[in-house]
Order: sequence, then C-alpha cells, then structure tokens
Amino acid sequence: MEAKLKVRRFDPQSGDGIHYQSYALEVPDYATVLDVLLQIRDDLDDSLAMRCSCRSAICGSCAMRINGQARLACKTKMKEVAADGEEVVIEPVGNMAVVKDLVADMAPFWQKVLAVEPWLQPKGPPPEREYLVPHEAMRSLTDIAACIMCGSCVSDCTVLETELELGKPSEQTFLGPAALAKAYRFVGDPRDAADAERLLALSRQEGIWDCTRCNVCLEVCPKGVAPMEQILALRRKALEQGYEEYLGARHTLEFEKTVRESSWL
Ligand code: SF4
Ligand code: SF4
Ligand code: FES
Repeated sequence: MEAKLKVRRFDPQSGDGIHYQSYALEVPDYATVLDVLLQIRDDLDDSLAMRCSCRSAICGSCAMRINGQARLACKTKMKEVAADGEEVVIEPVGNMAVVKDLVADMAPFWQKVLAVEPWLQPKGPPPEREYLVPHEAMRSLTDIAACIMCGSCVSDCTVLETELELGKPSEQTFLGPAALAKAYRFVGDPRDAADAERLLALSRQEGIWDCTRCNVCLEVCPKGVAPMEQILALRRKALEQGYEEYLGARHTLEFEKTVRESSWL
C-alpha cells in the first residue's frame, strides 16, 4: 500500500520553527505506523527523531499522536488509520514539551508518578519470606498492573491541556491519569498500610478531585488500565476515610444529598 505521512518536525538546534513534513512510500499491508516511520528514517530521512524499543506494545516508548489521538505507533496498523494513499498526521504526544520531532520530555510525567510514592509501604516487621496475599484481593489491580507508562493518557488529558494552556507551571498541574492509576495500585493493595496518608495527599489540590471525568484516558489507554475508573475508586476510598472537606468531595456529597432529598440535580 502507499503510505502518506505528514509529520510534525521540530529541532531546537536548527533554528527552524515547528513545521510539517510530508513523506510518501510503499509499505506492506501489515505495516504498523512505527514500521513506516522507521522505514522513512532508514531510507528517506535519517534526521527524523522518535523513540521506540520493543515494537510489541510492551515498553511504552512509542506513544505519539496519530491523527490527533495518542496511540502506540507499534500497535497501530497503517491501514487502520488511513486507506491506501490517504494522509496520516503524526505528532508528538501532547501536554509535554518536545525535545525533537516526535520525542517528548517525559521528566514531568515521571515526577508526577514519583509524587504518589509508587512503592509498597507495609506495616509491622517484615515477614520471614515474601508478603503473601490471596489472588482475589489482587484481582482489582490486574488492569492497573498492565500500565506500561506510555503517557498516552497524560498526552490527551483535557484537564492538563487546559491548565497548561492557561500557563500553569507543570509542577502545579493536575497529577494526571497515569500517576493516579499508579496510586490506586497501592491504595488497593491489602499489603500496603499507608492508605490514610496516601488518600489525604491525593485529596488535596491537583489530586483526585481535579479530574472532570471526560473519559478520554479510558479511550486512549492502549492497555485497558482505565485510569478514570481508578480515580473514581480513589475518590470512594477517600470519602470512606472521611476526607470530606475538599472542594470536589463537598461538591459530590451535595449532589448526592440533593438527589436523595428532591430527586433533582
Ligand atoms: S477522565 Fe480525568 S484523568 Fe482522564 S483524561 Fe479526563 S480529566 Fe484527565
Ligand atoms: S494508564 Fe494506559 S495510557 Fe496511561 S500510561 Fe498507563 S498504559 Fe499508558
Ligand atoms: S515500541 Fe515499545 S511500546 Fe511501541
């Protein structure tokens, strides 16, 4: 098939501004978008920068916007997004600064993940051998454990987009879907004993109550992590813990009260 790509280019060292460059080439019908980009780099333009490693939707490094939506380039067949000869627009992930072409600066993403303390914090003396936990207790965490930290959800999160457009410094923006899904990975883990502290921190500004439930992270996540569902689970746990004084919590409780009392929103 004929693949036509319009790729967003940016090289801070070149002095050229952001621009789009078109490429056309013959590729096999089974080619993924990543295959096509690698073929462009090998045969047509070795200056094109991108990130990739596993080519099997495992490492999370090839997330980019394909026709305006964050996807893994190695998991997206060219013919899924464009018919023979139809142009596809390729851009770096959103809500992150661009280092070069399709390579984004992931540092703020990792800082937010680190901010939720993504490690087990058990209580009491360490067990003689490993921490044992029944399978049933871990079942609700299976989807979250599938996260490959690709950043697609953060790329397209509408709250982050708005905050960054308004000029908020990145470190003061919403924690975002990937970090919050990771937070639930530990709040939901029966071995973790830091739920109260975790939920208190997450209830504060830039945390669980900042999500507008737009559903976008559910749609773009390539691994079925459903970050928004994990954020809602964190909200329920925070309310159970009695953290009701935060703006979003008060809003939710008022809604519930109004519906109960009058059947009206
Ligand atoms: S549902 Fe929430 S976390 Fe997910 S993209 Fe929308 S605002 Fe962001
Ligand atoms: S939650 Fe999904 S979209 Fe977000 S980083 Fe993890 S795998 Fe990627
Ligand atoms: S190259 Fe590893 S996820 Fe695409």
